[in-house]
Amino acid sequence: MNLLEIRELSVEFPAGEGSVKAVSRVSFDIREGETFGIIGESGSGKSVVGLALLRLLPANARVSGNICFAGKELFFLKPSELRKIRGKRISLMPQNPAGALNPALKNGLQIGEVFERRGIEKKEGMKKALGLMKKLFLQDPEKLCGLYPNQLSGGMRQRLIAAMSLSFEPELLIADEPTKGLDPEARAGAVELFTKIKNEYGKTMLLITHDLDLAHEVCDRIAVMYAGEIVELDEASKILHSPGHPYTKGLIRAHPRNGLVPLSGQSPSRIKLPEGCFFHERCRHAAVECSRRHPEIQNHKGGRIRCHLQFLQ
Ligand SMILES: Nc1ncnc2c1ncn2[C@@H]1O[C@H](COP(=O)(O)OP(=O)(O)OP(=O)(O)O)[C@@H](O)[C@H]1O
Ligand code: SF4
Ligand SMILES: [Mg+2]
Repeated sequence: MNLLEIRELSVEFPAGEGSVKAVSRVSFDIREGETFGIIGESGSGKSVVGLALLRLLPANARVSGNICFAGKELFFLKPSELRKIRGKRISLMPQNPAGALNPALKNGLQIGEVFERRGIEKKEGMKKALGLMKKLFLQDPEKLCGLYPNQLSGGMRQRLIAAMSLSFEPELLIADEPTKGLDPEARAGAVELFTKIKNEYGKTMLLITHDLDLAHEVCDRIAVMYAGEIVELDEASKILHSPGHPYTKGLIRAHPRNGLVPLSGQSPSRIKLPEGCFFHERCRHAAVECSRRHPEIQNHKGGRIRCHLQFLQ
């Protein structure tokens, strides 16, 4: 059963005379208990999708499409109904865990505040959070509560945020770049952390990441984004081992494990997107058709792909 259904989600930000097309007609489902990954280069629209889901985008964002969570259309909810979902039934681990914690407040106080703001009795919430911190490999959590965020390592801050996010027993956990900026040891710890969240808590997760190793460990299915669109969507093992889209192939080749061959060129301006395939200027397989006609995403070998090449062969 699908817990989340996103249909034709588009997000634009006004910019001078035009607009930045951050996300264009993105559609995907997340099944209950599934870990769904979104990968893609910087600026491809991954975080904007996550923020749109929680209606956390800036006020000037122009959003269209539908997002249905557990049978409820999120865009039609009243602010009071949305508050019941945001942070409780859907929890976001933000892209920058350091920025998510107030540097002037001791860790324990911030945890308490989060519960208070959401109408949960502080003592009960704290007990839950301490238990989770232990389970998520944070030793001596009581002592950590007496420290300030800058006294924790990046990996510890991330575990703290994970414990806070899971304390509300959300049905959907969104984690945005959970391994970004972590040293190799903390990174390996994060992989272990998410494997545990997936296997022991059976959480449904949306994992936004550049980290193909993390995606490989925990994702069931993956959507690949390029210039605001999904260009390929399939089982994680297929995306990571036998991708069909030239852009996905380039991403995989750029991974250190696969020889670190950089993807040449840059993604197009989002104010004036090119005609045809958005990837054609960088694609080694581009044909005349590719610069003329924009490919639609289509079913292909059990997955979905947006590329003329697949259908010309
Ligand atoms: N508030 C905003 N105003 C204008 N443009 C924005 C805003 N937020 C995002 N964008 C643009 O939307 C596009 C998608 O941004 P997004 O943050 O989703 O990328 P991302 O894939 O998460 O990148 P990264 O991997 O670097 O986190 C980018 O071109 C970005 O510049
Ligand atoms: S549509 Fe053409 S340019 Fe675009 S990815 Fe496929 S082959 Fe490359
Ligand atoms: Mg991002």
